[in-house]
Amino acid sequence: MTSPLEALRRPVLAAPMAGGPSTPALVRAAVEAGGSGFLAAGYLSAERLAEQVTEVGRDAEIFGANLFVPEADEIRPEVRAYRDRLAAAHPALAVPDPHPDDDGWQEKLEVVREAGVPLVSFTFGFPPADAVHTLHRAGATVIATVTTAAEARSALERGADVLCVQGPAAGGHRGTFDQTVEPPAEPLEDLLRSLRGAAPIVAAGGLTTPAAVAAAREAGAAVVQVGTALLVADEAGTDPTHRRELLAGQRETTLTRAFSGRWARGLLNEFMTTHADAPAGYPFLNQLTGPVRAAARRAGDPEAMSMWAGERYRDARPGPAGEILERLVRSHG
Ligand SMILES: Cc1cc2nc3c(=O)[nH]c(=O)nc-3n(C[C@H](O)[C@H](O)[C@H](O)COP(=O)(O)O)c2cc1C
Repeated sequence: MTSPLEALRRPVLAAPMAGGPSTPALVRAAVEAGGSGFLAAGYLSAERLAEQVTEVGRDAEIFGANLFVPEADEIRPEVRAYRDRLAAAHPALAVPDPHPDDDGWQEKLEVVREAGVPLVSFTFGFPPADAVHTLHRAGATVIATVTTAAEARSALERGADVLCVQGPAAGGHRGTFDQTVEPPAEPLEDLLRSLRGAAPIVAAGGLTTPAAVAAAREAGAAVVQVGTALLVADEAGTDPTHRRELLAGQRETTLTRAFSGRWARGLLNEFMTTHADAPAGYPFLNQLTGPVRAAARRAGDPEAMSMWAGERYRDARPGPAGEILERLVRSHG
């Protein structure tokens, strides 16, 4: 199939990074550098997403938006126990009760469909075929984030046009469809090789140097998606404390469920150590830890906020995003 990704002058995408780092300015900078990028719809209101889509769409022909696929609504006893533990540890904060929340799924799908966003990617699963068909009718290229060959097959059966193959070094949340299973540790290049030819492939996870990018392309990726390497870019909306800790380079990264109930890779801190046994339970744990994270951000306290980062975060350098991407991926022809 032909996809708009083939038309890119530089085969590189600014990854969707929900919670602040992704901004319209970051996406525009990636587009101006000859690549493209994703707005991160996760946690945004549908109205705010629509504004960002309009802002980027004014100038960019090819750009994307990334949505979180909703989870089951069941609130398990372990989640309620985690709530009680947090409330006891933080008596001054209003730790909420867990409640069903689909992150404005239908409204956001409608925003991207109506605006004709050219690239629509999903994480935390893949939507049913009818939602995919609706996006196809609106002209979208539909991209599935996958972490295993089985997830890739399941997304392709439901109409995915492109696979975004995410390897274990990736910063932020793993896209693993089933949140109760451990994210796979299969190296990115092995996964890429096993999926070669199945669909056009975008590779993600640990692509912070030209050599890593070249290896991913050698293993079958048509395009690479870069997250961590852009976290300290001028146009990124990364929280200042998070940015400082990335540049200091002193912390290890680890996978944790402590903040959101879904596995995600970030800079190790006290909260992650204290809650190393946190249960699965996205989006509920994300709701529960909201006040703790917000208070830490306000206080500039790195020990109780989520600071997502990929394994290779020490390669990230500040500067204009366009220059960062140009360094990673040379232009076609
Ligand atoms: C701060 C942060 C937020 C992220 N948020 C999202 C998101 O909203 N949606 C998504 O599909 N992936 C998200 N990711 C994962 C990226 O899309 C991508 O898979 C990852 O950054 C690639 O690995 P790298 O960080 O080593 O470049 C996020 C990553 C980071 C670092």
